[in-house]
Amino acid sequence: KRIVILVSGNGSNAQAIIDGCSRESIQGTVVKLISNVPTAFALKRAAQANIPSSCIDHKAFENRGAFDLALAKEIDDAKPDVIVLAGFMRVLSGEFVEKYLGKLLNIHPSLLPKYHGLNTHQRAIDNKDSEHGTSVHFVTPEVDGGPVILQAKVPVFEDDTADELAERVLVQEHKIYPLVVNWLCKERIVLTNMKAFFDGQKL
Ligand code: GRF
Repeated sequence: KRIVILVSGNGSNAQAIIDGCSRESIQGTVVKLISNVPTAFALKRAAQANIPSSCIDHKAFENRGAFDLALAKEIDDAKPDVIVLAGFMRVLSGEFVEKYLGKLLNIHPSLLPKYHGLNTHQRAIDNKDSEHGTSVHFVTPEVDGGPVILQAKVPVFEDDTADELAERVLVQEHKIYPLVVNWLCKERIVLTNMKAFFDGQKL
């Protein structure tokens, strides 16, 4: 299967997926990595791995619609079967999401449905949660609201800073995201009527 990865930053999750493909624990090939931030370190990772990459800088567009259109064109050129949002920090329009429904995955650093949006680690600490984690989900038009496919939990320690907690969560993200990407490549997970199914069973 052909995989396109969208990123905005460091790209450690993108790296985990690139590595999964080269180790063949993911039955797919990363055919392109697209960033919306010109300075994203993920672009260097792609170059290092000989993966074609491009940057569509959202700041160069007048509105979300124009950006989404340019992004869609860049994605379509790569003819992907699977589109992976890996630390991609732009909200995509409903129209965009509809177009790729069932092919679009995201990882969100919280135990969804808790903590949609930003600063999830700090919010878990502030609320004195004893556990926190990360969720891989299908992307649907509701931001961070698509059906969850797999989650991983980590403990929250009393003296944790948001950075320490984020690091603990990232370790888990690098394990579960490649797993789920492979499931989608193998068509073991499917989105039907906005619900996720694994081997035919509703999740
Ligand atoms: C991850 O924690 C992911 O859950 C969130 O953004 C972070 C991206 O990290 N969406 P990286 O760029 O993959 O290192």
